[in-house]
Amino acid sequence: MKIGSIKFPKYPVFAAPMEDVSEPSFRYMCKKHGADLLYSEFASSDALIRSVNKTMRKLTLYEYERPFAIQIFGNNAHTMAEAAQVVAEYKPDIIDINFGCPVKKVAGKGAGAGLLRDIPNMIAIAKAVVDAVNIPVTAKTRLGWDATDMPIVRVAEQLQDVGIQALTIHGRTRAQMYTGEADWSLIREVKQNARMHIPIIGNGDIDSPQKAKQAFDDYGVDAIMIGRASIGAPWIFRDVKHYLHTGELLPTMNVQQQVDELKEYLLKSVEVKGLPGGVIHMRRQFAKAFKGLENFRETRIHLLTRTDLQETIQLLDNNASRW
Ligand SMILES: Cc1cc2nc3c(=O)[nH]c(=O)nc-3n(C[C@H](O)[C@H](O)[C@H](O)COP(=O)(O)O)c2cc1C
Repeated sequence: MKIGSIKFPKYPVFAAPMEDVSEPSFRYMCKKHGADLLYSEFASSDALIRSVNKTMRKLTLYEYERPFAIQIFGNNAHTMAEAAQVVAEYKPDIIDINFGCPVKKVAGKGAGAGLLRDIPNMIAIAKAVVDAVNIPVTAKTRLGWDATDMPIVRVAEQLQDVGIQALTIHGRTRAQMYTGEADWSLIREVKQNARMHIPIIGNGDIDSPQKAKQAFDDYGVDAIMIGRASIGAPWIFRDVKHYLHTGELLPTMNVQQQVDELKEYLLKSVEVKGLPGGVIHMRRQFAKAFKGLENFRETRIHLLTRTDLQETIQLLDNNASRW
């Protein structure tokens, strides 16, 4: 499978863009465990053209992260084209357009998934961005606005027609936000459409090697993207890829191994964000880590409230020594 001139291995597994999660230390862990494509957090086109510091920081990319996609969002074709040119100077391998964010402050302003209610503007934005840069442009969207309006099959064709080079589909509507189950049947329909030739990346609820395999086998997608299941467990990429390539399940990482991984992540996070930001960043990970581990509640509460690095490491080590 190729996007532009970037060639991916068999069964590509991408690390989903996630605001407040997909910063360099998280991406480092995803890459370490085999994610085939990394994305930045989404960057607002308005903020990009005004050079807002916090947004510009999202564009930092390290050479080892390639292939790397920077994702942008906005509601205006002209601004998005200008923002894409700003982004292009940072030399990502791909520029991805977010047509899927459901949150009110984005979708409510006609950006992200809001564009699923204004397909002509979505297509105009896609075309403007494609025309503005010499980098492959991809898009990420949902099935539609709500259960009564799911135009993804038609939208996919139109995006392809204006030069979008790959399309990620999250099998939910905007109305669903992150609730209910992802419906992959329309993803399969897009993939089976004889008019479609660009790669289709399936996304939504993949949280095990078996589900990853099902996405390829039953829905025929060219690649898959994993988001929430990697929070607190970025080694899911290792587990999934091993299974896809060998048909064998790797033994689950034991607590000591998980602690070692999270400590490595914590130190990387501190390296990137300093103190106490690097420790605080980890709270979202600790909230999800050590799933199913008995008697972990109290340690979790401590991990979610501490800001001191040594204390946090000590809590993790104590956790490991209990097992
Ligand atoms: C905390 C969080 C932040 C997210 N931020 C973004 C984002 O910036 N851009 C984007 O396209 N999708 C974003 N998403 C959506 C994910 O990329 C993905 O489409 C969604 O979580 C479904 O995949 P999953 O079931 O594997 O998590 C975000 C999701 C979460 C949970």
